[in-house]
Amino acid sequence: MARTISQEPAMHAAVVRSFTHPPRYEEFPTPEGEHVVDVLAAALHPRVRSTADGTHYESTGELPLIPGIDGVGRTAGGEHVYFVLPDTLLGSMAERAAVDPRRCAVLPAHVDPVTIAAAMNPAMSSWIALRRRIAFEPGQSVLVLGATGNAGQLAVQIAKHLGAKQVIAAGRNEARLAELEAIGADRTVVLDDTEALGAAAAEVDVVLDYLWGSAAAAAIPAILTRRPDRGRPLTWVEIGSMAGLELPVQSQWLRAARLQLVGSGQGSVPTREIVAELSELAAHIAQGGYTIDASPVVLSDVEDAWTRSLGSSERVVFVPA
Ligand SMILES: NC(=O)c1ccc[n+]([C@@H]2O[C@H](COP(=O)([O-])OP(=O)(O)OC[C@H]3O[C@@H](n4cnc5c(N)ncnc54)[C@H](OP(=O)(O)O)[C@@H]3O)[C@@H](O)[C@H]2O)c1
Repeated sequence: MARTISQEPAMHAAVVRSFTHPPRYEEFPTPEGEHVVDVLAAALHPRVRSTADGTHYESTGELPLIPGIDGVGRTAGGEHVYFVLPDTLLGSMAERAAVDPRRCAVLPAHVDPVTIAAAMNPAMSSWIALRRRIAFEPGQSVLVLGATGNAGQLAVQIAKHLGAKQVIAAGRNEARLAELEAIGADRTVVLDDTEALGAAAAEVDVVLDYLWGSAAAAAIPAILTRRPDRGRPLTWVEIGSMAGLELPVQSQWLRAARLQLVGSGQGSVPTREIVAELSELAAHIAQGGYTIDASPVVLSDVEDAWTRSLGSSERVVFVPA
């Protein structure tokens, strides 16, 4: 996307100048536009990391860039809004960001910007998948594959909220898995125990898959071979790829059972449909009750926090320095 900069005094921002180095806190030209907000909170989601290291499928390879795909900002009129940015080199990890009002949801004044910034992207992954990508119906059963991360934990809670009869949570981290029953999981299964996973999930209707790769390669045959009714539809929704980008698909998986593999994310769900869900999801999160491990960090510490939080489930949220 074209860069538009103003004659305004420079702002501070996290700036990526090399795909092999974390962003640095630097001066950068202030973005120009009719709707420029003061950024109050911008979270470091996996998607943000993949833009900053050039590996995301939407990456153009262009530098420098300011990372950050979404955030909470204060408009010139004093309203707090959650915003999603278009694919832009001028992201949300900055003092100011140019937003599109069509991609904003106005927030109640009492809502904590850090919580909204931390929760919206991971929550959207299951909310959009179940409401916009597939024909999910209340009463169906859901397996969350990779339920111990931020998006997976929220998927457990959101699937229940949207009417799932049963939610099975699978992950590799036993300590975190044990906590998921308290937030709505009907059953939990350790990923390594393929037999137990297959048995627990034999009759699910939907899989929300945050892992793909080796984890899905083990789970698919484990479930299909134990499925009492192979003609019962099983919709496998690929959302993340924490366990690998590639899945070797064996032809019999698709012939021997009514398995449908689909993906949910930017592109497979039109932007207008994602945007249409923002207000309701933001209002829902604002009501409280969701568990999210958010850590506010001042933006001037971006370089250090970027490296420190790599591989941790802590969701760093940058706030003004
Ligand atoms: N398509 C979309 O709309 C959308 C939206 C948001 C996120 N996502 C994707 O969803 C994925 C998860 O995002 P997130 O925000 O939840 O990230 P996160 O909070 O960092 O959680 C990722 C979790 O994955 C688990 N994990 C990592 N490698 C694994 C492996 N080899 N086997 C099993 N588990 C593994 C880790 O679990 P433990 O360390 O607890 O074992 C970690 O907690 C990412 O790929 C992200 O890009 C997609």
